[in-house]
Amino acid sequence: MGKKITNPVIELLNRHRSVRKYRSEPVADEMVEAIIEAAGRAATSNFIQAYSVIRVRNTAIRKQIARLAGPQEWVETSPVFMVFCADLNRPKNACILEDTRMDAGYTEQFIIATVDVSLMAQNAMIAAESLGLGGVYIGGIRNDPQTVCDLLKIPDHVYPVFGLCLGFPLREQEQKPRMPVSMVLKEEIYHEDEPDLSAYNRTCEGYYRHRSRGARQDTWTGQISRMMDRPSRPHMREFLNRKGFEFK
Ligand SMILES: Cc1cc2nc3c(=O)[nH]c(=O)nc-3n(C[C@H](O)[C@H](O)[C@H](O)COP(=O)(O)O)c2cc1C
Repeated sequence: MGKKITNPVIELLNRHRSVRKYRSEPVADEMVEAIIEAAGRAATSNFIQAYSVIRVRNTAIRKQIARLAGPQEWVETSPVFMVFCADLNRPKNACILEDTRMDAGYTEQFIIATVDVSLMAQNAMIAAESLGLGGVYIGGIRNDPQTVCDLLKIPDHVYPVFGLCLGFPLREQEQKPRMPVSMVLKEEIYHEDEPDLSAYNRTCEGYYRHRSRGARQDTWTGQISRMMDRPSRPHMREFLNRKGFEFK
């Protein structure tokens, strides 16, 4: 193995952890604007920019979203909470302006919009971390996506993909280990026999046993197999169909 390559951007990426506890210090609106501007520089499929971000300040609405998402108290208490939406409403308006019809409801359009918003959200996370903030995504909003749509007046052809809490981290915390590059990066073809999951299990077991908060006995395969052995938000298909994502 050659010398490890690094630079300030790679170091920032390698420092990531999800942050759920924040100092009370507010986040300036200018910071949020800079974060969303940088987020929007992400590559976007066909230049479609199929996303909208809803910043939620209303405490009563945040309380309701925090409850349906878990409950997850950080949705209520974080200095900034935003909902990232896959948005095909704007392309629909583009078609109206051009006096054409949007041939909607394709699975591919769903993928395009979901990937677009995810790429820009990760840019937002990195931009936030570069400013000393920490954050956590909130997939939990998909526990009850219809209520999120009702609360935030999200129209058809738009769906809330995840939330993002941001704020200045309350404390330093351990990093969750990731799979080594040797497991993720496969040469030429998909090598089914790799990876050695037991080695990664031992790494995760050590992390869970020794972490300063919420220590427990667990492994990666144990955690993932428990997750994969139960229904995964089975309401999502019907919800998406109703919102105009029909999986044609
Ligand atoms: C799309 C997405 C949704 C997530 N949803 C939640 C969530 O609802 N609540 C939460 O506490 N963490 C959530 N997370 C954070 C993951 O649990 C976290 O990234 C993972 O455990 C790895 O930990 P790390 O980010 O600290 O390295 C989500 C992450 C992603 C990418």
